[in-house]
Amino acid sequence: MLYFLISWLWFILPAYFANSSPVFIYGILKKRNYSFHRIDFGKDFLDNKPILGKGKTFEGSMFGILTGTFIGFLQEVIQKTFNLKFIYPMNIKFAFVMSLGAIFGDIAESFFKRRMNIERGANLPIFDSIDFVLGTFLFLYIFLHFWDLRFFLLSLIFTPLIHRLFNIIAYVLGLKEVPW
Ligand code: CTP
Ligand code: MG
Repeated sequence: MLYFLISWLWFILPAYFANSSPVFIYGILKKRNYSFHRIDFGKDFLDNKPILGKGKTFEGSMFGILTGTFIGFLQEVIQKTFNLKFIYPMNIKFAFVMSLGAIFGDIAESFFKRRMNIERGANLPIFDSIDFVLGTFLFLYIFLHFWDLRFFLLSLIFTPLIHRLFNIIAYVLGLKEVPW
């Protein structure tokens, strides 16, 4: 059971990194007055609402994909160096597809949020934390014919919990105003 959980955590790591890194590049470049390039080019959809909104940029997406892929590369090196065995050993190609999927899932969610009249940055509970999981598994299935029901369910259940946990930690550390 523990082996299974550790295998899952090792497996999902690139997606977690891809999903959580864009906000950092935003924080770093923003301080230098860098102007970001929106994926929707600032355009509105048929409903006269932004297609995706200001929160989805090429820079953030690129950084997320690079970070997730790099994590997968590190994992591959670590596995080989220490001869570690997991249910699914990580490799850079797998991590790249995962990261692409994670970013895609997050972007797709913003599209639906805007259609539902939810402003950029406003919450859509549950979906805000699992959007990238759905994208990750969709892309793994489409491009690498990979599917694992147990890992998928584990990701759906644990991701919102881990999300909450991190938000509470960030709140306690004074990095966030609210604990959610
Ligand atoms: N970000 C980005 N590009 C992406 C994803 C995220 O630049 N593809 C950056 C943006 O600065 C964004 C921040 O990371 O504001 C946090 O991401 P997220 O919570 O997904 O975006 P929100 O601002 O909450 O927007 P939305 O309501 O559309 O989810
Ligand atoms: Mg958000």
